[in-house]
Amino acid sequence: MWTKQNLHDLISSGLRDVQFIVVSNREPYLHSYTGREIVCIQPASGLAAALDPIMRATGGTWIAHGAGSADRLAVDAKNHVAVPPESPKYTLRRVWLTKEQENRYYYGLANEALWPLCHTAFTRPVFRPEDWQCYREVNELFAKAVIEEAGGQPTFVFIQDYHFGLLPRILKDSGLPNMYVAQFWHIPWPNQEAFRAFPWGEELLDGLLGNDVLGFHIGYHCRNFLSAVDRGVEARADMERFEVTRGGHVTAVRPFPISIDFESHSQAAAEPRVEAEMERWRHELGLNDELIVGIGLDRIDYTKGIPERFRAVDRLLEEHPEYRGRLVFVQIGVPSRVHITRYKELNDEIDSLAEAVNWKWSTDSWKPVILLREHAGPARMMALHRLARFCLVSALHDGMNMVAKEFVASRFDEDGVLILSYFAGAAHELTDALLINPFSLEAMTEAIHLAIEMPEAERQHRMHRMRAVVAERNIYNWAGEVISTLLRFDFTNHVDAKRCEATAD
Ligand code: G6P
Repeated sequence: MWTKQNLHDLISSGLRDVQFIVVSNREPYLHSYTGREIVCIQPASGLAAALDPIMRATGGTWIAHGAGSADRLAVDAKNHVAVPPESPKYTLRRVWLTKEQENRYYYGLANEALWPLCHTAFTRPVFRPEDWQCYREVNELFAKAVIEEAGGQPTFVFIQDYHFGLLPRILKDSGLPNMYVAQFWHIPWPNQEAFRAFPWGEELLDGLLGNDVLGFHIGYHCRNFLSAVDRGVEARADMERFEVTRGGHVTAVRPFPISIDFESHSQAAAEPRVEAEMERWRHELGLNDELIVGIGLDRIDYTKGIPERFRAVDRLLEEHPEYRGRLVFVQIGVPSRVHITRYKELNDEIDSLAEAVNWKWSTDSWKPVILLREHAGPARMMALHRLARFCLVSALHDGMNMVAKEFVASRFDEDGVLILSYFAGAAHELTDALLINPFSLEAMTEAIHLAIEMPEAERQHRMHRMRAVVAERNIYNWAGEVISTLLRFDFTNHVDAKRCEATAD
């Protein structure tokens, strides 16, 4: 099994004398003002949360957009800040963007074009040439930062996500001989029919083929990517070997299901501070032993299927009067990308739905839906996981969904039921969840009913098996597999790849 230690060993042997640079849009730590005070928080991003333990284990530099209101005050002259703040383990290099760049590259191209294009959630993508131009510009800007940090030394650059589709090509064309580039695309890759709608498809594919290794969560996304390449650019896409050759350069395209630091999450969930938070939740929400608690924890995003959950709660109360006065569904919704109209509409929609369901069913002492717009810290989230009879992950489409894995990791008591959408990557691994089609109100309602009525022995059996899966395929496994693939492919001239594989076993 992969651990923090053997990932560290792999890097220090396989990538000896090679610098490790991670690039993502979202930074792992953000400094912001609350009133006059500066606080440092970890933003709500599955990606940032997943990569942080890896960087703690490996050290190196993480380059990201400095988006916090007090970010500039925390950095030195090189725009560096040592993180995590309490016991620094790696360097965060912040890149500054103008308002215009943030609007066009982040809100526009990344989140109004690529995000809806890649998720089959039936929100129409918006393609503006000015946004694409700015996306190019920002990818160039990050390339400059990478080249500066690399300083001509052998470097492994590990790029994250759909914000940087052009960066790999820019880096490969920069002429630096010792730069090895891998990228992980954290969201789905759409089927060919959907991808054809992207007006700059050829340039994007070419950009991504600058990678030595390109990862997706599941094989299906890899195959979609390979067929886009096959139809969209001059390259040889080998569907058997999962490789693309373009201009003599080979890109390995592989599935690497991302995960969490299971061990440390599971241990942290058992700490007294989590028990204290459970007590706080009980007090704040008036939860008592008579009540059945269901939970949902998400960024407020139209891919997550939040309105669908509220409708299912409503339907359940209609069909099963015995749950009236007894079922409480707590939805934590972290506001996200709020400058985009579709997200504003969604916010209004979930407010009015929660309000309507509560209006219909609530009594003086009970309401079925509690919607909280808060960014709960890890202990508070774990506390909620532990209080829940079931956790509802009803994503209409999701690359992986880390909430599902976090819920499982928190349940060291091997209790609780996970209800999980087929359309989340996690459903490929967590087959002991109650798998649902979130587009079917009936299916979701029935799954909640089953979850509530499931006998304890069955809950434990399912949870036990899911915990074994997440323990085995943890975040170190993910990073280890990406790096081993890279070592097998591109570093063979520089390091003894067999030695590295041996370390990883
Ligand atoms: C998804 C994306 C990440 C992103 C996260 C939060 O998980 O794959 O790249 O960081 O959403 O979204 P945000 O736009 O706030 O970074």
